Amino acid sequence: MLQTSLRYLAVVAFTANFSAASALADATTPIDWTPIPVEEVTLFYPGQSSFQWLRSPEHRGARMVGRGTSCKHCHRDSEQRMGSDIVSGGRLEPNPIDGKKGSLRLAVQAAHDEENLYLRFRWKTQAERPGVMHNYMRYDGQAWAFYGGPRSAKRVRQGEEPPLYEDRLAIMIDDGDVQRFAEQGCWLSCHTGMRDMPGEPASEAVRSHPYLGEGGLGRNDVRKYLPDSRTDTSTSWDKVKSPEALAKLKEKGVFLDLMQWRAARSNPVDMADDGFVLGYRLFDEGKKPFSWNVDRDSMTPEFMFDPKKVGRKSLTVSDIETGPEPAALIREDNATPYDPDAGWKEGDVLPGRLLSRVDARGSAADNSRVTGKWENGSWIVTWIRPLDTGHDDDIALKRGNTYTFGFAVHDDNVTTRFHFVSFPVVVGIGRGGDITAVRLD
Ligand code: HEC
Repeated sequence: MLQTSLRYLAVVAFTANFSAASALADATTPIDWTPIPVEEVTLFYPGQSSFQWLRSPEHRGARMVGRGTSCKHCHRDSEQRMGSDIVSGGRLEPNPIDGKKGSLRLAVQAAHDEENLYLRFRWKTQAERPGVMHNYMRYDGQAWAFYGGPRSAKRVRQGEEPPLYEDRLAIMIDDGDVQRFAEQGCWLSCHTGMRDMPGEPASEAVRSHPYLGEGGLGRNDVRKYLPDSRTDTSTSWDKVKSPEALAKLKEKGVFLDLMQWRAARSNPVDMADDGFVLGYRLFDEGKKPFSWNVDRDSMTPEFMFDPKKVGRKSLTVSDIETGPEPAALIREDNATPYDPDAGWKEGDVLPGRLLSRVDARGSAADNSRVTGKWENGSWIVTWIRPLDTGHDDDIALKRGNTYTFGFAVHDDNVTTRFHFVSFPVVVGIGRGGDITAVRLD
């Protein structure tokens, strides 16, 4: 990871002007974190506690939730207990994962200067290795096929394939424009009908939906959305407002900023992704740091490792199942176009994703100064985010204001609902909150 950025620095120093190089040098130089207070946020396992469940007779707080009462009003300091209740199975988790923990403590430090918000996170992983494995293709002697997956996948539960899925840290931000986010946080974005939630529609139903499907976003599943984006009070997945109405809301600032640090798909190029939530969870305008490395027609990889640069063309099954840290395929760094005649053997493995820091651009590339290191069983992620990215699909943070953040961590080979989430957290930029970003200068 560090090596990647150093190599990248060297390239920039020779090819671009000097100020670009020094800006990047600054990006990788951490600030002095010693005097910055450490706050602990407890994240817990929410199971299927959706927007709809919280308002149903099954939830004892339903009436008050409907009126906008905050979750913490009734659940202060009960995250750990709730997490361990839910994770072990029952009405909110019909498909528990054996041995999974119910909560996670996230240590957060925050600071700011005139330009940036500086965040530093630390959390202990359940696995004794960093979760940097993701979306692999394995050669079986004849053809390439996807290999491994999240612990929730049937073929992984049945032991046919190993659990391989990246660790992630997600940050949601609201500046007050999303009604009730301050009180109810991430739960506003989680609904019946989403992936791995009750009432999941058939993919054909999503594909034929005018906004979500082929004529619109081109999706085949339902992901996060805000109640404001729907026309009915139960905020059904398919009752989407018109594109004009959504555009108006967006213009008024009714959306959540959502950024994710990904141990496999962004960290090797020292980045996090950048997206937002309104009618769906979308990436910001431009190009994000990762893309597929799979030609879907021929089901073959598009790039392999460049043996001239790294001494090998591929990984092996044991590298990714037990190895300390399987390498990522980075276009500008270690990749070369896939050669079908390179003498592939059964058990050869290539990443199904291609990363590039150089190709990332636009608003989707705003989080270009995010670095994670796994040591002594914990991730330490340092995140530098411009207060104002200058892009209208981001929330501009102003000094002296407070914002509501939601944090989530996907730990130990899981995706979708199998994560840990926080109740809403007030973050003040140079001003008191649950977490205060300390002024640096
Ligand atoms: C008016 C009080 C009240 C409010 C507000 C409230 N709840 Fe609850 N909630 C309860 C009670 C009471 C229970 C049942 C007892 C328990 O398990 O803690 C419960 C249960 C739950 C459970 C199941 C816990 C378990 O152990 O199975 C979840 C999850 C939950 N609430 C989430 C939320 C979220 C998220 C919010 C905010 C959107 C919220 N609640 C707001 C009162 C409330």
